[in-house]
Amino acid sequence: MISDNLTKKVNEQIKEELESAYLYLAMSAYCESKNFSGFAHWLKEQAKEEQGHALKLYGHLLERGGLVELKAISAPPKEFGSPRELFEQVLVHEQKITALIRTLYEVAKEEKDYPLEMFLQWFINEQVEEEASATKIVETLKMIDNKAQGLIMLDRELARR
Ligand SMILES: [Fe+2]
Ligand SMILES: [Fe+2]
Repeated sequence: MISDNLTKKVNEQIKEELESAYLYLAMSAYCESKNFSGFAHWLKEQAKEEQGHALKLYGHLLERGGLVELKAISAPPKEFGSPRELFEQVLVHEQKITALIRTLYEVAKEEKDYPLEMFLQWFINEQVEEEASATKIVETLKMIDNKAQGLIMLDRELARR
């Protein structure tokens, strides 16, 4: 059985993951409206992954006898600026999620909740990947420096995800 404190914290993380999905979906719609279909596709896939993360936590909580409590998620912005500005926001967001996962992991450790600790190791590895892929896109966009040719090529590349 999972503690009440950890149940509360896992529920908060479920909300964060769903909020991430909502943010990436809004970003996807924005890119689509700017005719960047490849960026839009990448972000929509990302939104699905985030929903998957929420469901993983949801499953763990139920398995451990914790009560799932879905919280209100806030509305994301509608505008995200240039592709570079948008992906910089993705990176900052992922860094924020990494910090939250680490805090959750620390609490699980403090409470000696070994199953949750083990379970969260997947998320720790996942965040390494998430930050790396966002960083790669940001760095590429810096090199492209808002030039049409480069943007079109990167858009095509991200369409293949
Ligand atoms: Fe996530
Ligand atoms: Fe993520």
